[in-house]
Amino acid sequence: MGSLSGAAPTVKLTVRDCTKRFSGRTVLNHISFQVRSGEFLSVLGPSGCGKTTLLRILAGLETPDGGTVELDGADITALPPARRRMGFVFQDYALFENMTVLKNVSYGLHFHPEFRGREDLCAHELLERLGLAELKDSLPARLSGGQRQRVALARTLALNPDVILFDEPMAALDADTRLMLQEELGQIRREFSSTFLYVTHDQEEAFSMSDRVMVMSDGHIHQIDAPEELLRRPADEYVRQFVGENLLRRFRRLRRFAELVGES
Ligand SMILES: Nc1ncnc2c1ncn2[C@@H]1O[C@H](COP(=O)(O)OP(=O)(O)OP(=O)(O)O)[C@@H](O)[C@H]1O
Ligand SMILES: [Mg+2]
Repeated sequence: MGSLSGAAPTVKLTVRDCTKRFSGRTVLNHISFQVRSGEFLSVLGPSGCGKTTLLRILAGLETPDGGTVELDGADITALPPARRRMGFVFQDYALFENMTVLKNVSYGLHFHPEFRGREDLCAHELLERLGLAELKDSLPARLSGGQRQRVALARTLALNPDVILFDEPMAALDADTRLMLQEELGQIRREFSSTFLYVTHDQEEAFSMSDRVMVMSDGHIHQIDAPEELLRRPADEYVRQFVGENLLRRFRRLRRFAELVGES
C-alpha cells in the first residue's frame, strides 16, 4: 500500500450515507466510504452505476438528497465548489481553445490572491515539472490528446488542490499514451502528495495505479479494497465475476505473448 503503510493513515474524505435521486429514480443508494490522505482510490463500475454523480457530489456540482460529505473532518456538503480545495480532470480536456498552454494553466491562478503577480511564473514552473515547457506558447488545437490531458492536469495541479477528482480522463486516448500517462500519474500523485479519486471503466488501469479500488453497481458499493484483496476475497458474487473473471480472461489472452518475451 505504499505511503499508506506504517502509521495509521489519516482520513481525507468521508462520505456518509449519501443518496441521490433523479426524477424519483435512486442513482446513489446510501453510499458510505472514506478516502485516506494521499491515497489513490479508483472507482470501477458499469455505465450508469452512479460514478460521475458521486464525483459531482464530492465536487459540489450536485447536492445529495441525503447524507454528508466531509473533508478533513469538516462538513462540506453545502459548500460551493470553489471553496472545496478539489480539482477535476475530465475526459474531454475542456481547455480554453483561444489561450496558449501557458495561459490555460495560469488563468485559474488569477482568482487566487496568493498567486497575484506570479501567475505565469507558477504556471511555467508546473509546465516544466510535467515536461510541457516547450509547448507553452502553443494553442490547444496543435496538441495531441495526451498532451492536452497533461495540460488539463497541469491546470488542475497549479491550484494545489487537496483532492483531485478524475472522471475517465484517459478514455479518449490510445493505449500507448494511456500507459505512459498512467505511470506519470502515479509519480505526480507521490510528488504532489495529493489524494486522487479516479473513475474509470478500465479495470487494468484501476488495478495498476490504485492503492484501493471501489467496485460499484447500480448506486451501491460492493467492496473497497486493495486490488489483490478484491481478487483474493471478493465480498460477493458480483465482485468475483466483475473483477476476477474479467482479469482472468485478459490474463489468458496475454499469457501466450508473455511466454514469447520471457515473462512467463
Ligand atoms: N442530471 C441528471 N438528470 C437526470 N438523470 C441523471 C442526471 N445525471 C445522471 N443521471 C442518471 O443517473 C444515472 C447515473 O449516471 P452517472 O453519470 O453517474 O453514471 P456513470 O456511472 O458515470 O456512467 P458512465 O460510466 O456511463 O459515465 C444514469 O442513469 C443517468 O442517466
Ligand atoms: Mg460517468
